[in-house]
Amino acid sequence: MTVPRFRAQKGGAPLVCLTAYTAHVAHLVDAEADCILVGDSLGMVIHGMDSTLGVTMEHMIMHGQAVMRGASKALVVVDMPFGSFEESPEVAFRNAARLIKETGCTAVKLEGGREMAETIRHLSARGIPVMAHVGLMPQQMNVAGGFKAVRDEEFWEDVIADAKAVEAAGAFAVVVEGVAAELGEKITRNVSIPTIGIGASVNCDGQILVFEDMIGLFPRVPTFVKRYGNMEDMMIDGIQRYAQEVRDRSFPAVEHTYSTKKG
Ligand code: KIV
Repeated sequence: MTVPRFRAQKGGAPLVCLTAYTAHVAHLVDAEADCILVGDSLGMVIHGMDSTLGVTMEHMIMHGQAVMRGASKALVVVDMPFGSFEESPEVAFRNAARLIKETGCTAVKLEGGREMAETIRHLSARGIPVMAHVGLMPQQMNVAGGFKAVRDEEFWEDVIADAKAVEAAGAFAVVVEGVAAELGEKITRNVSIPTIGIGASVNCDGQILVFEDMIGLFPRVPTFVKRYGNMEDMMIDGIQRYAQEVRDRSFPAVEHTYSTKKG
């Protein structure tokens, strides 16, 4: 998948996007997804942080490299962590270029609407494709007082203005997170770039979920997550059976041990 092809799918077949943070999961996701996002949600679902604010460039680079080893056809996008792009377009360029050089990913994602338009324009004009992210922006949680969905009509025009601003600035796609379904649909009708919904609307141009949420490997389940599996139960079962078999010496069995090589 390339950026122009991804963008051209606006209004066409829904774009399938998922996060991945490790090589093997990326390999599995790659078989179905148009886009793999190495999102900063990794801070919460992999590293046990309470928010995404503690995620560093080094986290993103390490997981981005792992994902690039596993993916071969999906468009790989790496998130810019909090503090790596807000200061100035120049700082954003330096860090975005680092993500691309050191991971080999194709594009970066950054949170922000109108206030980030200048930065998106700066990056896009210099060879860095940008996926924007509007609506509920987890990196703004301290300002918003938590992870708050945009449901109140009073704020709809702001989010629409943000989506239009990132489109005008050159973003090739925009993640729309945590907004009333009607608003998600309205944004999709009002911009010419693909909208990728997460807790937005079934009428977005594509959908994204965090892999660990989707597969039942993370205890907190926001309203917008549908669980397509329950990996946690499978893992608990495996761990318990292993522990039991170690304790009663039924593991390792003969087939799991090496015989002596004579002579
Ligand atoms: O970090 C992330 O996983 C994201 C998705 C929720 C879109 O930004």
